[in-house]
Amino acid sequence: MGLYDLALKTMFLIPPERIHGIINLGLKTLHSVPVVNRAMESAVRVKDPVLSQELLGTTFPAPLGLAAGFDKNAASIDAWGAVGFGYAELGTVTPKPQPGNPAPRLFRLPQDKAILNRMGFNNKGALEVAEGLKKRKSSDVVGINIGKNKTSTDAVADFRQGAAALGNLADYVAVNVSSPNTPGLRDLQAVAELRPLLVAVKEATDSPVLVKIAPDLADDDILQIADLAIELGLAGIIATNTTISREGLATDSDEVAAMGAGGISGDPLNERSLEVLKLVRKHVGDKLLIISVGGISTPERAWERITAGANLLQGYTPFIYGGLGWIHSVHTGLASQVRAHGLSNISEAVGSGLTWRNDAI
Ligand SMILES: Cc1cc2nc3c(=O)[nH]c(=O)nc-3n(C[C@H](O)[C@H](O)[C@H](O)COP(=O)(O)O)c2cc1C
Repeated sequence: MGLYDLALKTMFLIPPERIHGIINLGLKTLHSVPVVNRAMESAVRVKDPVLSQELLGTTFPAPLGLAAGFDKNAASIDAWGAVGFGYAELGTVTPKPQPGNPAPRLFRLPQDKAILNRMGFNNKGALEVAEGLKKRKSSDVVGINIGKNKTSTDAVADFRQGAAALGNLADYVAVNVSSPNTPGLRDLQAVAELRPLLVAVKEATDSPVLVKIAPDLADDDILQIADLAIELGLAGIIATNTTISREGLATDSDEVAAMGAGGISGDPLNERSLEVLKLVRKHVGDKLLIISVGGISTPERAWERITAGANLLQGYTPFIYGGLGWIHSVHTGLASQVRAHGLSNISEAVGSGLTWRNDAI
């Protein structure tokens, strides 16, 4: 067990929300000391050319990125590459700062390797996050995830504003219409609502635009969103956000009910997230890039997503439970599978259906 992993486990004794702030602060502090940062980078980052892909007009050095919600304010923007992520999706950022929902709003379900959250887009707002993005020192790939303010009555205007303020400062823009914790947000996934919103975002930024969808949508609705994304010239789809379903949990149902409303992430999401990936890939062919996220807690699952058609991967909850060792094991696992199958780059594995080989080294 590495030092960071030990620290993470110790921090599980601390209330869940504080741990996130502490990790962000710790990473930011470490990163501001160049010698420590370089040492961390050489110790944990997997630099393997077989994992590097040219996508969205830039070079992703490795396929696994940090999912949105962890670094909402771009506080540790230059640290994520050093700890081993191929890229980081920052946000969700709303036009105006907002406090999010009252605490407690973040719960661990260790038996399920899951998290339940109803954070509600607590963030410092687009202007302050833009200042942070302008000061970034590294050339690490970053996406910016945008949303609407809770009290806003004009969702299109909010998304346009977010895209205009932040879009060109990032390598891609993720339109978040799928978080369960902002009233009415997920209704924006209906095509009639989504169309003007995506058009506005596309007009407001030159960066590639992706839309992030909920796992709880009906399959038909997902396919309609995929068609709309193609029609409007979007770059891709991020699947999926957290689920409002409470099915199949090992945690006692009364305990879960007592936690209240919110989205579940981590292992319980694995099956549906994979299913949505397969559904979308089958429907769109190679017309869209797909970022797969939800319960990718092992290298085997990461390989399964790639071979089912994901171009890139993300994780949040597996990072909480697995720490830096998780990032490392996913990347080394993927690289060894690429070689074991006689491929020269991970992009050749995308959608290949190739199964995990236990004899890979
Ligand atoms: C505490 C928490 C906060 C999150 N906040 C956001 C957010 O602000 N925006 C967003 O698009 N997704 C957010 N997510 C969802 C994640 O980005 C991801 O889609 C989801 O957790 C499934 O991935 P995982 O199983 O790897 O955690 C959040 C997830 C968690 C656990």
